[in-house]
Amino acid sequence: MGSPLSSFLRQNKPLFFRIFFILFFSCIPDTANLCSNLSLATTAVQTHSASSDNHFSLKKLTLDGHFSFENIHYAAKDFGNTYHFHPSAVLYPKSISDISSTIKHIFNIGTASQLTVAARGHGHSLQGQAQAHQGVVINMPSLQKPVMKVHTGELPYVDVSGGELWINILHETLKHGLAPKSWTDYLHLTVGGTLSNAGISGQAFLHGPQINNVYQLEVVTGKGDVLTCSEQQNADLFHGVLGGLGQFGIITRARISLEPAPKMVRWIRVLYSEFSIFTKDQEHLISSESSFDYIEGFVIINRTGLLNNWRSSFNPRDPLQASKFNSDGKVLYCLEMAKHFNPDEAGIMDKKTESLLSKLSFIPSTLFQSDVSYVDFLDRVHVSEIKLREKGLWEVPHPWLNLLIPKSKISDFAQQVFGEILKDNSNGPVLIYPVNKSKWNRKTSFVTPDEDIFYLVAFLSSALPSSRGTDGLEHINNQNQRILDVSTRANLGIKQYLPHYSTQKEWQAHFGPQWKLFVQRKYAYDPLAILAPGQRIFQKAIPFL
Ligand SMILES: Cc1cc2nc3c(=O)[nH]c(=O)nc-3n(C[C@H](O)[C@H](O)[C@H](O)COP(=O)(O)OP(=O)(O)OC[C@H]3O[C@@H](n4cnc5c(N)ncnc54)[C@H](O)[C@@H]3O)c2cc1C
Ligand SMILES: *[C@@H]1O[C@H](CO)[C@@H](O)[C@H](O)[C@H]1NC(C)=O
Ligand SMILES: *[C@@H]1O[C@H](CO)[C@@H](O)[C@H](O)[C@H]1NC(C)=O
Repeated sequence: MGSPLSSFLRQNKPLFFRIFFILFFSCIPDTANLCSNLSLATTAVQTHSASSDNHFSLKKLTLDGHFSFENIHYAAKDFGNTYHFHPSAVLYPKSISDISSTIKHIFNIGTASQLTVAARGHGHSLQGQAQAHQGVVINMPSLQKPVMKVHTGELPYVDVSGGELWINILHETLKHGLAPKSWTDYLHLTVGGTLSNAGISGQAFLHGPQINNVYQLEVVTGKGDVLTCSEQQNADLFHGVLGGLGQFGIITRARISLEPAPKMVRWIRVLYSEFSIFTKDQEHLISSESSFDYIEGFVIINRTGLLNNWRSSFNPRDPLQASKFNSDGKVLYCLEMAKHFNPDEAGIMDKKTESLLSKLSFIPSTLFQSDVSYVDFLDRVHVSEIKLREKGLWEVPHPWLNLLIPKSKISDFAQQVFGEILKDNSNGPVLIYPVNKSKWNRKTSFVTPDEDIFYLVAFLSSALPSSRGTDGLEHINNQNQRILDVSTRANLGIKQYLPHYSTQKEWQAHFGPQWKLFVQRKYAYDPLAILAPGQRIFQKAIPFL
């Protein structure tokens, strides 16, 4: 501990990691030209040494939009509400060239500057992923270009800006009787934000996640280049950016595939007390021909409260309150399904859903269903958001944990976690539903477990900041850690969704065999590690001085 090296490391921790970044890269085969870049960067240091005035140099850029250096504290906040890294500036872009010239400028200063760049969608990240410590945050919703444009025809699509909210896309496409195919449970998220992760909801078993339903992207890379990419054009960048955690470029435009939109949805919930029967039915439904259009599920452990039903407290009625079932101490499982229809086909839909339900083994008295408009169904979480905001329960810490668990291990997991580590779910809903990976594009950066069928299990907890009890942040964090620990110990082969790690070794394990490609892409598209520093996968390279 007393060695000169360790005291050097203690005093120069950030520097050490920067060196590590460089050493790490130089060990990777096929990245020989990294060295030439690094020496370029070193030259940049010699010709441009000062760093404190970096953000003043931003002011000199000619832009259509503008920078703000004040009132930027919101950019150090996100939905998770536990990480707060303050930027030095926020860019409000009005054009793609605003984004490109900002990044070019920072790239050209090279490693003499520590400036990094984070695109911020709607800031619904959980652990600072859209933040940039003393860097530049780009407020993506200000980029209102291109204007949303729907293309009808055999393969309809919509071109949208990267900062567009999914709820706005829904309303615009519905004017043409169309809508995107794959969603998230909550629509006040941006296109760039969900495509950087995956975008998973109850339609993913059928259409794949949102990253599977994109025809083309326009991306500004970490060098400031503006590139159009698709399966046919710059395919490596296209695949890299999808699920790429913002590491390779900023999505400025996306071309999203559409389908004819239904007017109505039959929304159904049923309960199970046996986990194995519940999952058997879920797995049966996701592999059936002409099944439901949406399949999810959730766990109910020893109570229901507002937070427990927040996703859809308005409709259908909470099966637990409505039925004679009391979950006190017991674990119940709710299967949630939806079938699209238009009013003139209500009869056909009735028959179809009846036939699908007749093959399931839920507790008969727990069937609840109601018909709602497609918009109300898709925007269901927003209703809960409004209620929670009124009670001051929206802007609280959200220590969420999202896991992808292989089918063969899901019952092990359930046995060890539900009712054991997790004694009740009064802190928020616990979602659980399977998807079939063979429908998904495997070339993207998105990491899944090895098996074809895996479950998304989402612990969507809200914490009360001042509490030291079971609803406090510390308790919930400990619980999450225990869940991760048993999964690791039992070798369940899980992957985190919306992943969060603190060391590069953990990232390497997360990506597994895909790590090498991930690093190669980083090197190709963002060699100075300027982009999305809040993911904490790479650190901006600074030469060894
Ligand atoms: C209530 C709620 C419900 C949710 N439900 C679901 C769900 O059902 N399914 C699901 O999959 N996810 C869900 N999410 C998670 C959601 O996908 C993430 O929060 C995601 O980060 C999107 O949020 P955002 O648009 O605000 O992006 P941000 O948090 O702003 O950004 C996320 C990451 O992407 C980067 N980024 C943002 N914009 C761009 C861009 N244009 N180009 C490149 N990188 C960019 C950021 O730098 C950051 O690293 C939910 C979140 C909330 C709060
Ligand atoms: C998953 O999807 C593939 C391709 O559609 C199919 O062949 C396979 O049977 C499905 N697996 C299950 C368990 O449904
Ligand atoms: C269920 O919750 C109540 C309080 O809400 C608690 O008193 C009881 O011990 C819990 N039961 C179990 C089995 O955890």
